Amino acid sequence: MITRKDCLQLDASDPLASFRDRFVVPENLIYFDGNSLGLMPKAARARTLQVLEQEWAQDLITSWNKHGWFQEPVKLGDRLARLMGGGTGNMVVADGISINLFKLLTAALALRPDRKVILSDTGNFPSDLYVAQGLNTFLNNSHSLRLVAPEAVLDAIDETVAVVMVTEIDYRTARKHDMKALIAKAHAKGALVIWDLSHSAGAIPVDLLGSDCDFAVGCTYKFLNAGPGAPAFMFVHPNHHNTVSPALVGWWGDAHPFAFNLDYEPGPGITRYQVGTQPILSLAGLSASMEIWDDVDMVQLDAKRKSLCETFIACVEQRCADFDLSLAGQRDMTRRGSHVSFRSINGYPIMQALIKARVIGDFRAPDMIRFGFAPLYNTHAEVWDAVTVLHDILQNRTWDRPEFTTRKTVT
Ligand SMILES: Cc1ncc(COP(=O)(O)O)c(C=O)c1O
Repeated sequence: MITRKDCLQLDASDPLASFRDRFVVPENLIYFDGNSLGLMPKAARARTLQVLEQEWAQDLITSWNKHGWFQEPVKLGDRLARLMGGGTGNMVVADGISINLFKLLTAALALRPDRKVILSDTGNFPSDLYVAQGLNTFLNNSHSLRLVAPEAVLDAIDETVAVVMVTEIDYRTARKHDMKALIAKAHAKGALVIWDLSHSAGAIPVDLLGSDCDFAVGCTYKFLNAGPGAPAFMFVHPNHHNTVSPALVGWWGDAHPFAFNLDYEPGPGITRYQVGTQPILSLAGLSASMEIWDDVDMVQLDAKRKSLCETFIACVEQRCADFDLSLAGQRDMTRRGSHVSFRSINGYPIMQALIKARVIGDFRAPDMIRFGFAPLYNTHAEVWDAVTVLHDILQNRTWDRPEFTTRKTVT
């Protein structure tokens, strides 16, 4: 039986405890949605004001050179790469995940012109599937998108598959694909793999080069705390750097953007995956969060992520056993990410009641209440206290009020 005292003890021996102070933590709020939009780093305010008031307001156009705006996407890519074993010169930050996925998918398909199958799974984030569907429509349905259950992906890889396109951590259940095994099988069959690391980056250790990963995309506004709508990252293995180009190109990816040549010439390596001018204000948010992430030990992060998830699952199952809640996904922490979902037929109103009580998670259709645990700022005491609120809401049926049933646009 876990007690609040146990939770406090776990927090007292947490080697990452001091990181919480580097974020803006709203008062009287338990925030378990860092897997959707991470807390704001305190440094973001000063960094953004610096860009606004000095670099934009005063230095204006000279900032592209003077403040290195033009190089920022590649520099930030290199800093992010440390967290994911991505090496140097293999990552860039630009655009959004879905757009980047389109770029990588077109590049990967061009590397396997004789194959016509894109393999993915039914647990993938729908937008990723829409990107593949849209591309295939554009290609006059020359390819097919083969969808199998997540557990069946490994066995479904055969010599017809051009590209396996999967999300490592399932956005609903947190089920984790075995990256190494899947890549090894794909390569043995001559296929390439594109990973969506949106729920992995800043949540679990990733070893891009060690796993021989071909391509990856991921999000910076979730666990990486770069701010709403901040640009996404892309990884391209050095073996593919100069052998192929994405179908979506623009002057930022050209070899000589300021030569203004009429014909496109792909830039070296990862730079060719940029298209046009990047959102410098959003990059300021990422730059501020990287000041924190540069100091993080990923082994410690993984240990705390496991501990927070385990504690939450144990507390819910121990204290809310009388109610209709069942754990979604794996129990084994090595086979899941850093969020936990419970299924309930009343999931939507339960989550609305929690939010009203200032415990923030979210709801994922059809029936999951989802809680993201950010190891840099969440605590075990928060886990205990949130479960106390959850228990009260279930016990008193607080969720069963009309105000909690109306679906909002964003769930
Ligand atoms: C796993 C995953 N992939 C893709 C996306 C889409 O990202 P974007 O809106 O930046 O294109 C999301 C958004 O939450 C996601 O969770």
